[in-house]
Amino acid sequence: MRKEDARLTDTLATSTGLLTDIGWLATCPSEGGQDGIGAIEHAAVAWRDGVIEWAGPQLDLPKAMRERPTHSAGGRMVIPGLVDCHTHLVFGGWRSDEFRRRLAGESYLDIAASGGGIRKTMRQTREAEALNLQSHALDCLTEMQALGVTTVEAKTGYGLSFDDELKLLNVVEAIRPKTRSRLVSTLLAAHVVPPECNKESYIQMIVNELIPAVSAQGLARFNDIFVEEGAFTIEDAHQILDAGRRHGLEPKLHVDQLQDGDGGRLAAAVGAVSADHLEFTRPEGRQAMAAAGTVGVCLPFASLYLNQPPMDGRAFVEDGVSIAVATDFNPGSAPSYDLPLALMLACTMSRLTPSEALKGATRIAARAVGMEDQVGSIEPGKRADFAELSADNVDEWLYHFRPNVCVRTWIDGQPVN
Ligand code: NIG
Ligand code: FE
Repeated sequence: MRKEDARLTDTLATSTGLLTDIGWLATCPSEGGQDGIGAIEHAAVAWRDGVIEWAGPQLDLPKAMRERPTHSAGGRMVIPGLVDCHTHLVFGGWRSDEFRRRLAGESYLDIAASGGGIRKTMRQTREAEALNLQSHALDCLTEMQALGVTTVEAKTGYGLSFDDELKLLNVVEAIRPKTRSRLVSTLLAAHVVPPECNKESYIQMIVNELIPAVSAQGLARFNDIFVEEGAFTIEDAHQILDAGRRHGLEPKLHVDQLQDGDGGRLAAAVGAVSADHLEFTRPEGRQAMAAAGTVGVCLPFASLYLNQPPMDGRAFVEDGVSIAVATDFNPGSAPSYDLPLALMLACTMSRLTPSEALKGATRIAARAVGMEDQVGSIEPGKRADFAELSADNVDEWLYHFRPNVCVRTWIDGQPVN
């Protein structure tokens, strides 16, 4: 059993509950496509032992459920707990100096070539005590919960050696029992080649030693790679993702972020669960992803901070690709975990509608982390994870953007804040 599945059986709630007086409920069901958010006015949701039993118009609430412990949403909007399906949660140290350097005209790749970028965070992360990495990640998760985020994918990628990548995965394992957030681990050893290795020997270490160890210890569900100039090639991706597959790790990709690298067609060829970034993906890539059923992940913060053209979310949706929206939270290209802000930017920059953006951070994001049978929608059988927002509906929420309108977050039918 995977770690996150084991966590789900360890039910914290042991009772029934009812949330009433929901002014506007977005259920975000699997059907209905990118903008099918299943909105219901004047709604209620009932659960038992942390699992949703019923959701619908309050007038239709079954009699047998009316007497259970009741909480009022006070007419507010309720959405499924948000799913941040792409973060680099565990890292040591920030890179505000690079923010200043980029504003002065240096490029992300130039800064990386001068010893900054991912390798700088690698040095800071290797030096950091595991306990400090844990407490930093936990603090971030608490802040994310306050924004309504209940499930978070966490990538490695700042260890870049056998021991240091395992150290980061073990940081996630150490915080799993200390947070109510659901965590999904992804191995991103193939982020860049560390300075002490040549690329071939580093890839051999990932393929022959690290992936088998991660798999044997059940430390990750996904295997990711950064395909880009200065990082890895399409051929490297086949080698590393195939090795992961043989050991039960499903492929994910960072592709087409800084230039067109044929990432959409690569995603389809390797059967990636998701392909993320996609700022420069061509129509052939979008069509290949649509045919393969690969989720595209829109990461507006990275485009914004690196002053890159954004991913064209509208074109992907029109070509039939399901689009998730995530923060890409990391100390370089996306130093923010504010997923609601990313949703607003996915509308303004990537041309998604507010409903499409919401579906992209709930049901579709859950699919991007293989959790769609447990989270991402408010339907019977799903975990009772919700966010109560002080907004009228999704359009008003993402249009009238305010610092934080989440007034209460629920995980497993219990408030966490
Ligand atoms: O997703 N693109 C590669 N990796 C991260 C950036 C990591 C960093 O700059 O530290 C990303 O944008
Ligand atoms: Fe990323």
